Amino acid sequence: MQGTDLELARQFLNNDELVAIPTETVYGLAGNALKANAVAKIFEAKNRPTFDPLIVHTFSVSEVHNYVLEFPIWAQKLATAFWPGPLTLLLPKNNSIPDIVTNGSDLVGIRVPNHPMTLELLRSLPFPLAAPSANPFGYISPTTAKHVADQLDNKIAYILDGGACQIGLESTIVGIKNGKPAIFRTGGIAIEEIERTIGQKLVILQSTSNPQAPGMLDSHYAPGKPMYLGVIEELISKYPDKKIGTISFVKDFSNQVKQSIVLSENANLNEAACQLFAALRLLDTSDVEIILSEIFPNEGLGLAINDRLKRAASKR
Ligand code: TXA
Ligand code: MG
Repeated sequence: MQGTDLELARQFLNNDELVAIPTETVYGLAGNALKANAVAKIFEAKNRPTFDPLIVHTFSVSEVHNYVLEFPIWAQKLATAFWPGPLTLLLPKNNSIPDIVTNGSDLVGIRVPNHPMTLELLRSLPFPLAAPSANPFGYISPTTAKHVADQLDNKIAYILDGGACQIGLESTIVGIKNGKPAIFRTGGIAIEEIERTIGQKLVILQSTSNPQAPGMLDSHYAPGKPMYLGVIEELISKYPDKKIGTISFVKDFSNQVKQSIVLSENANLNEAACQLFAALRLLDTSDVEIILSEIFPNEGLGLAINDRLKRAASKR
């Protein structure tokens, strides 16, 4: 069931049911973050292994103190600068957060999402919401209510429809590595902006297929069809017998392939980021046989776009 009824969403969540919620990044699959039985339903609906921890969503910076042991200065600086917004902080959790949320880790990922409906919902609830992206584990993240419905409709109580996501890529995750702030996942806030705010250079932790390093699996955000990255003109000539779909930044390939999707005619990386997941879904459900994509400029949101493309193209 899908709609804009906040009261209904609130009732389901109060009864430990699952509701898909709109955020500025991607749709989340939400349940009561303080109740292990509600959180367990999230893993089940997504078919998600429990080694992959969930992000906790709340409505204000001051609320965070209820769920963490410590809210260090670097984290407060980032929270003040970017919340509500596409930033997740990894902070030492207190006992209110059940272990299932964090896979037993002492750290909890926490963020204040920037969507008016979801902020209103969070304010009306006596608990925060645990929410991963509302897609089956490993598949492309949803940026519209329809994307969620296409795959999870019969597994969840309600989909709160808040329109298309404005950022379109997951939050940037910042935590501590070797005593210093580090980027655990590139995302909707450019790393340059985060570095400027805390006044130091940050390392980006490398991807890995080791499940002990949560959420950094090589294959993720992945379409069902084979996908290849590189220079599109060269890739096209490698697959003369295939029906090809392309994803490119500015250049149109319509006269050479079955379906060409340009992510931003004006070469705007924010716009490209916003269109990326919908483009992947469109090609995955169209009649093309393979998906080719170029690599985007490695600056601003281009880093996060390239991260998602690499994982989408990685072999399972
Ligand atoms: O924008 C977003 O972050 C979206 C919206 C719904 O808020 N959520 C999202 O959740 O992308 P999900 O579950 O698809 O990705 C969460 C990732 C995990 O895979 C993991 O990499 C990281 O966040 N994470 C969460 N909690 C963590 C923790 N305690 N320690 C390390 N990494 C954590
Ligand atoms: Mg996800």
